Amino acid sequence: MELKVFDNYGGLSVAAAEMIMDCIKDKPDALLCFATGDTPKLTYQELAAGIKREGTDISKCFFIGLDEWLGIPPHNNGSCHYFLHHYLFSPMGISPRQVHLFDAMTTNEEDECKRMNSIISKRGGIDLMVVGIGMNGHIGFNEPGTAIDAAVHVTPLDEMTKNVGKKYFTEEVTINKGITVGLKQVMQAKTLLMIANGKKKAPVIKKAIEGEISTDFPAALIRKHHNGILMVDSEAASELKTYFND
Ligand code: F6R
Repeated sequence: MELKVFDNYGGLSVAAAEMIMDCIKDKPDALLCFATGDTPKLTYQELAAGIKREGTDISKCFFIGLDEWLGIPPHNNGSCHYFLHHYLFSPMGISPRQVHLFDAMTTNEEDECKRMNSIISKRGGIDLMVVGIGMNGHIGFNEPGTAIDAAVHVTPLDEMTKNVGKKYFTEEVTINKGITVGLKQVMQAKTLLMIANGKKKAPVIKKAIEGEISTDFPAALIRKHHNGILMVDSEAASELKTYFND
């Protein structure tokens, strides 16, 4: 794993966006899997701006969502669906045929998982995953204790995830279950880019880097990833004993 520490959120977001653009330039038909949340907002804005500025051809890429709140309709502005369209797909002018997102309103969860599993395997795995880190160490909705060989699955949400998750919604909603790309696919992704910023993520980053490597704290598994890159700002790195930057 490579740890990169940036002075601030802006620097981190520019570097993360550049990495995504480099991946697309290297492999124009890349399969990209994106998280939502507060952390990647600026990365996605920088990415959309960078793609416009450089005229990068994204017409052959395919995009999948990392996870979704089950039961939250796509027009709800707290849904992952809404977020990805708002911050990424609309600004980047991505055609709907290049996107597959989870259907949060599905009546057949098993089929929903199968569909995403099959897209990932047909395309030979995920080329680049951009993930954040939950306050409980989750990656996507791979909550603490998720099996390392779990593929796409539906999961009850951890209390911490439900509480923290309220911040995304303008109205009161019930969020009990999530659907997510699994740890197996996270660990097999050709590149895993994990990003975190701000003081409140400092204890989480400390645990991910200095704590035990265990599925009890999924973010720590990045240390076992064959091509894991963790980008943090100086606030998120502030509780680390030491860090190396190049
Ligand atoms: C969202 C997701 C979550 C978030 C994590 C951090 O699609 O996958 O795992 O990445 O909860 O969220 P923020 O960035 O809001 O701190």
